[in-house]
Amino acid sequence: MRPRAPRLACLIARPVLAMAIATGGGAAAQQATSAAGSAASGAYLVRAAGCIACHTAKGGATFAGGREMKTPFGTFYTPNITPDKKTGIGAWSDADFDRALRHGTAPDGGKYYPVFPYASYALMTAQDASAIKTYLFTLKPVERANRAHELRFPFSMRILMRGWRMLFFADTPLKPAGKSPEYDRGEYLVRALTHCGECHTPRNQFGAMRESLFLAGNAEGPDNELVPNITPDKKTGIGDWAPDEIAELLKSGESPLGTDVGGAMREAIRDGLKFLTEADRKAIATFLLAQKPIANKVSKTKS
Ligand code: HEC
Ligand code: HEC
Repeated sequence: MRPRAPRLACLIARPVLAMAIATGGGAAAQQATSAAGSAASGAYLVRAAGCIACHTAKGGATFAGGREMKTPFGTFYTPNITPDKKTGIGAWSDADFDRALRHGTAPDGGKYYPVFPYASYALMTAQDASAIKTYLFTLKPVERANRAHELRFPFSMRILMRGWRMLFFADTPLKPAGKSPEYDRGEYLVRALTHCGECHTPRNQFGAMRESLFLAGNAEGPDNELVPNITPDKKTGIGDWAPDEIAELLKSGESPLGTDVGGAMREAIRDGLKFLTEADRKAIATFLLAQKPIANKVSKTKS
């Protein structure tokens, strides 16, 4: 299959969210405390969060990186995240990993580019991030040296990310709305783990997601693809869909019209969303249908 080449503009992080420091969600409380339980939930979370698609090159070893991501700013090559001590993250401490995944900061203090969707992962609980690390460290180390990104000046200057973060990065986990366990779980999945908004929300000129149009569709998604409005607006969104129809699409890729979704959505389902439990797919549907309908027709010809 053709590797997806998400555009930086699509994958750049969300704008500052008006969120208070979270105290940890219900899902976190259910996390098993034993290392084995943690690794099992880590395997599930890695699927939900789509780590595999980005960190695996075409024909390459899983998680060994090297996938090419073409963006208007240049080409990124994802790093090796297997526990190889020399070329992967095998020498990283738990704190190093948490700082990378939830705070976008490398062990040497450098700031990551938001093409690594850490602005969504920042909304994750510490427990879930830790389970992901436990799982990754049970895997076989693969020796594969990282390839340097090929970015255009001035984007090649990592230091620019400091300014971007000050403007657009809210470094706080998600505070559960407390509406219902199903709604809260759905919000956590959509915003933090499965990061639907990274593709389905349009961007401002700095590439940050426009929170007022959260999930209302994006004319310039990965590969310059059109990404539909998935707010419950009856005309331009998915307001006519039943919860089961949304859950079914996330599992099989089939829409209520009997057609198969394509592009980046097909890949997101194949590598991750189809492995979600029935309960989690339903929670996503519950959350989506409870959002404010936003009338926004997404089309290539700008009016
Ligand atoms: C949309 C693609 C994408 C997804 C999804 C993604 N990553 Fe990455 N990741 C990247 C890119 C690109 C970089 C390099 C960023 C940079 O150099 O600034 C990166 C960097 C990293 C790093 C830093 C490695 C190092 O050597 O410094 C870690 C750790 C990491 N990702 C883990 C994960 C995990 C775990 C997941 C899933 C929860 C994940 N990534 C999901 C694209 C992605
Ligand atoms: C990597 C980008 C990406 C991510 C992440 C993503 N989507 Fe999509 N989604 C797309 C694209 C592109 C399409 C259009 C596919 C097509 O044209 O066939 C789409 C289509 C859909 C549709 C069909 C809408 C319609 O009107 O036919 C639904 C529903 C949907 N996505 C829900 C979700 C949900 C829920 C999530 C998070 C769990 C999500 N998507 C995550 C890119 C993405």
